[in-house]
Amino acid sequence: MKPPARTGVAIVGGGPAGLLLALILHRAGIESVVIERRSRDYVLSRIRAGVLEQGTVDMLRAAGVGGRLGREGLVHDGFDIAWRGETLHIDLRGLTGGKTVTVYGQTEVTHDLYDALDEAGVPVLHEAEDVALHDLTTDAPFLSYRFEGEARRLDCDYVAGCDGFHGIARQSIPEDVLKVFERVYPFGWLGILSRTPPIQEELVYANHERGFALCSLRNPMLSRYYVQCPLDDRVEDWSDARFWDELTRRLPARLTGTLVTGASIEKSIAPLRSFVAEPMQYGRLFLAGDAAHIVPPTGAKGLNLAASDVHYLSEALIAVYRDKDDGPLDRYSETALHRVWKAERFSWWMTSMLHRFPDTGPFGQRIQEAEFDYLAGSKAAQTSLAENYVGLPY
Ligand code: APR
Ligand code: PHB
Repeated sequence: MKPPARTGVAIVGGGPAGLLLALILHRAGIESVVIERRSRDYVLSRIRAGVLEQGTVDMLRAAGVGGRLGREGLVHDGFDIAWRGETLHIDLRGLTGGKTVTVYGQTEVTHDLYDALDEAGVPVLHEAEDVALHDLTTDAPFLSYRFEGEARRLDCDYVAGCDGFHGIARQSIPEDVLKVFERVYPFGWLGILSRTPPIQEELVYANHERGFALCSLRNPMLSRYYVQCPLDDRVEDWSDARFWDELTRRLPARLTGTLVTGASIEKSIAPLRSFVAEPMQYGRLFLAGDAAHIVPPTGAKGLNLAASDVHYLSEALIAVYRDKDDGPLDRYSETALHRVWKAERFSWWMTSMLHRFPDTGPFGQRIQEAEFDYLAGSKAAQTSLAENYVGLPY
């Protein structure tokens, strides 16, 4: 493919944020090019999130990629929290006046977006190297990069930094402009994927004195499980047998009878952090998704925050190209951060409530217990949890 030399919006990063932005802009008649560092197979091999807010589902449908999602996505009306042998059901649909979440893997979302972009003829360049952003504070920014062994340049009107936590876009904002806010958690999540039926239809979040555990799924024959583990654990420390044994110890007895174990087809340890970079824009560069913020996965917000950033950014860019109105774009960072920080708060709260922290101490332990007791006894508390879990309004 001969890469274009000029486009409207140069999108760095071909994950969910970059791909969804490119597709929405295309539907609005705005040209873009996606420049991705990795191969398509590599991007599609990543095992990531699995729970979509209704807002994300609506955006994917509006962008024309709701077909398979509608057929294969599993609508969930609620989930369980297990604690001290008890189980609390959070009735999302009942507590939020009918809102739900949909279980559909991020890998499938990415597949669907790639297919739609291919069909639309939107250029997605894979294995691009040495991407650099230039002249961001002028009205003629451009990217330089290497592609198929040749040095290239892409002139554009705007740059969307959708290149994730380890990308180049955030690093292109001067240190004296950027403020970062971070909390690193003193544990990780060991996750496995197994071709086994899930322990139950709905998700189970478990707090146990041995640590947190989560039972999730991708489809009726593909289960996703996690256990909290020490930060210095390595995947090779965890045989499948050890994992299943530890998971069983952390779940209520009523559940473990239905646990079907099997060989792991994917096993990895992920660190947990809360991270926000402000502002999410600099000149004609606009950050979206993990490039700007990270949440601990407890609240299932990572992919959904990427979607809401893309909602605000695409609407703002359309206002510029269609109505010559720069207002929403000038306010993009402020608008996006309002929702980002509320999702950060919720993800931090869910993580604090459900995990065992090494420095909790007796007082902290009692506070955690009181948190759960209050939640178990208060419809207002459950409603607050539910409205955050299904996704606050855009
Ligand atoms: N140049 C080009 N592409 C890059 C560069 C670079 N310098 N650095 C990173 N990338 C690519 C990565 O290879 C990745 O495919 O940017 C993409 C960023 O995608 P994600 O990390 O998936 O981030 P995002 O699109 O914001 O989606 C957020 O993905 O990782 C999960 O938990 C996260 O669910 C959340 C969602
Ligand atoms: C997952 O299925 O991977 C998953 C579900 C819910 C979470 C985190 C991860 O909170």
